[in-house]
Amino acid sequence: MQKPQCVVILDFGAQYTQLIARRVRECGVFSEVLPYTATVGEIMAREPKGLILSGGPASVLAEDAPKCDKEIFELGIPVLGICYGMQLMAYLLDGRAAACEQREYGRTPAVMDKRDGGLLNGLRGESHCWMSHTFQVVGLPEGFERLAHTDCCPYAAMADDTRKLYGVQFHPEVTHTEEGCRVLRNFLVDICGLKGDWNMESYVEIAVRRIREQVGEDGTVLLALSGGVDSSVAAALLHRAIGDRLTCVYVDHGFMRQGESEQVVTVFTETFPVKLVHADAGKQFFRELRGVADPEEKRRIIGKNFVDVFKKEAAKLSKLDFFAQGTIYPDVIESGSTKGSAVIKSHHNVGALPKELGFASLVEPLRMLFKDEVRKLGVALGLPEGLVMRQPFPGPGLAIRVIGELTPEKVGIVRKSDFILRDEIQKAGLDTGISQYFTVLTGARSVGVMGDERTYAYAVAVRAVTTDDFMTADVAQIPYTVLGRIATRIVGEVQGVNRVLYDITTKPPASIEWE
Ligand code: XMP
Repeated sequence: MQKPQCVVILDFGAQYTQLIARRVRECGVFSEVLPYTATVGEIMAREPKGLILSGGPASVLAEDAPKCDKEIFELGIPVLGICYGMQLMAYLLDGRAAACEQREYGRTPAVMDKRDGGLLNGLRGESHCWMSHTFQVVGLPEGFERLAHTDCCPYAAMADDTRKLYGVQFHPEVTHTEEGCRVLRNFLVDICGLKGDWNMESYVEIAVRRIREQVGEDGTVLLALSGGVDSSVAAALLHRAIGDRLTCVYVDHGFMRQGESEQVVTVFTETFPVKLVHADAGKQFFRELRGVADPEEKRRIIGKNFVDVFKKEAAKLSKLDFFAQGTIYPDVIESGSTKGSAVIKSHHNVGALPKELGFASLVEPLRMLFKDEVRKLGVALGLPEGLVMRQPFPGPGLAIRVIGELTPEKVGIVRKSDFILRDEIQKAGLDTGISQYFTVLTGARSVGVMGDERTYAYAVAVRAVTTDDFMTADVAQIPYTVLGRIATRIVGEVQGVNRVLYDITTKPPASIEWE
């Protein structure tokens, strides 16, 4: 296999490093993120066509500031320093960096002084950039010229075209920088000479190679398959890499949506016939949840039983060498950044499982990808669209969409009404425009009339939101005609329901799920 052309990103501890990697991938270029401590030998082993120095929280003037080897500027490879990366470049090349008199933060208008060729080629004369810095370059190193400035920042971008060394104080990887992608593309394509023809299909080959390197010739892997997008894509990828040395355990808690468990089993016994253990544990979960109405208690019990069932099934298997998880990059950020914040809902996860099961080594092949990239990878691997494009579904499943105590009847109501909602949303062509939509069995019962009979039955709520990050959400505006069809079908087809409500609350103050 031909090695893809690559860019190395040196990480100085920035919040945005993986976002840089992602933007580089969007430009059709493969990148590898290495720690700033990487030696020149380690960097050159990747045969990079360009280097990017990320931002970071430190001050270059601090004694213990993270610094890379100065030799990287003499390799003849183009280098782009971003924020801290620019300051470090200036500092190491005998320019000057200092604390800003006035800290710049947020969207800031920048004047592009030189935009006829080079890094800022084709940008507007004034363009909004995302700034976030307390230090900046105040004296250019020899051979550099100014490319841009702001009211507070004398050198918002700098270049030494002869040596192909570049720096930007703003963050081109952040979407608030209006022409950030253009800056990155100018660097990658015009300056580094990269073709920009890399895509997710090529990523499959790279990911497969890495898995094989990690797992070795005869290593075996155990994967916790949840049926969600991430673990399904991880399973398909691992299967491509190591075939039947992969065993997947699917713990079915009985709270999946209509047809979902069947789909998981079909895909992984027919499309990607892996060694699949389908632990059908619905009865156990129901038993353990009897009489429990509190949402957090439900989550705790579901999480605990999930782990118990998984452990029991794993114990039946012969010893496997690695534990695999479908961790994706937002999970990595979330687990690092939510420290100390209030627990609103304790999402259950399998984070502690590998240790409990005695696994020293984790395989996390999606760790550096964002959700939409994972979906693209799933498509490239040949997973069915319905599975890959599915909307997020919480680990505890429908159990947290029945308010209060669970009964098989109540779970049946929420499952059927959810199916009708999904069907109507899809028929109306609204499915790609709404981020998450589902029904909730409210605890309320109310009086109705059906035929000539008085009824006293449940109210089902429809929840539909649009959001980018699920941290905040807007109410999706489903047209009344579609809502009308949904309500008619739910009360007509789902026994025990005589009323349908539409939840019109944003998040915050409400959360997306009702429990
Ligand atoms: P909330 O309700 O917190 O939901 O606004 C935000 C997103 O998280 C999902 N969610 C969960 N996911 N386990 C999960 O794996 C959970 O316990 C859980 N609770 C909420 C929710 O579906 C939405 O996408």
